[in-house]
Amino acid sequence: MQTKIRKGVIPAAGAGTRFLPATKVVPKELLPIVDKPTIQYIVEEAVASGIEQVILITARGKGAVEDHFGVSAELEEVLKRQKKGDLLRMVKELSQMVTMVAVRQEEPRGLGHAVLCAREAVGEEPFAVLLGDDLVDAEPPCLAQMVEVSRQKGGGVIALQRVPASETHLYGIIRGEQVSEGVYRITELVEKPAPDQAPSNLAIIGRYILPPEIFPILEKTPPGKGGEIQLTDALQTLARTMPLYGYEFAGDRYDAGDKFGSLQANIAFALKRPEMAERLKEFIKKVI
Ligand code: G1P
Repeated sequence: MQTKIRKGVIPAAGAGTRFLPATKVVPKELLPIVDKPTIQYIVEEAVASGIEQVILITARGKGAVEDHFGVSAELEEVLKRQKKGDLLRMVKELSQMVTMVAVRQEEPRGLGHAVLCAREAVGEEPFAVLLGDDLVDAEPPCLAQMVEVSRQKGGGVIALQRVPASETHLYGIIRGEQVSEGVYRITELVEKPAPDQAPSNLAIIGRYILPPEIFPILEKTPPGKGGEIQLTDALQTLARTMPLYGYEFAGDRYDAGDKFGSLQANIAFALKRPEMAERLKEFIKKVI
C-alpha cells in the first residue's frame, strides 16, 4: 500500500460499561487523563501521524464527543472577555486540529460493524483505525511507526504487544512469522482465545492500517465472539488473500477504558508534566 494514509476511523459508539457509573451520562471518550479527554490524545496521535480527516463512529448520546472538536463561540467569547489569551488559543486550536465527520452506528453490532459504517466516508483508499481505549505513549507516535512499516512492506499493518498467557482472552491474538525486527507476517488471528487456544502471546492493540478490501469482507462476516461482528474475523479472511503485517511498536500502552488502566495513564501522563511532576511524586510518597 503506497498511498498516503489520510483518513482515520475512530469508533466511539461503545457504551463504556467497564467505567460505570462515570459513563452513565458522560461518554467514556471524554473522561480526562490529567486535563484532556482520552479521545483528544487519540486524535492528536492521528494528526501527528499524517491523518487529515477523522471519521468518528458515534451513537445516540455521544454528541458531546463531536462538540469537543467543534467551535464553541460562547466559550471563545467568555475567554476573550476575561482576557485569557492562552486558553482562548488552546480552545481555537482544538477546533482547527482536524477535519472530522461523524457517522452513526445505529445498533451496537461490534467493532467490525463499526468499521463497516465508515465505508462510504473512507472510499477506495487505505485508512487507519484507532481505538479510543488504547492510549499509547510513544515517540514517534504508534500510528506513525505503523505508517512507516506499511510504507516499507506495502500491506495492512496491525499494532501488537506481548501479553501474559492469563490475558489472551482480552485481546485478538495472532500467529505470525517474523520477517524483520518487530514485524510479523500474520497467518492467523483469533478473537479473545482462552490461553490454551491462543496461537501466541502477541495481542492486537487498537491501531490498524487497513486496505479498502476489508469492507466487502466485513459485509459478509457473520457474528463471532459475543455475537458481534468482529474486525479480527474479517482480518483472518483478508490475511488469506493479501499481506497483513503485525508490528510490535515501541511505546507504553494504557487501557483507558478500564478504571485501573485509566489511573495508571493519569499518573504516567501527569509525571511528564513539569508543573505537577514533583508535587505528584511527593504526594505518592506520602500516601503509600
Ligand atoms: C478490540 C478487538 C481486539 C483487540 C482490542 C484491543 O477488543 O476486538 O481484537 O485486541 O480491541 O484493545 P475490545 O477491547 O474492544 O473488546
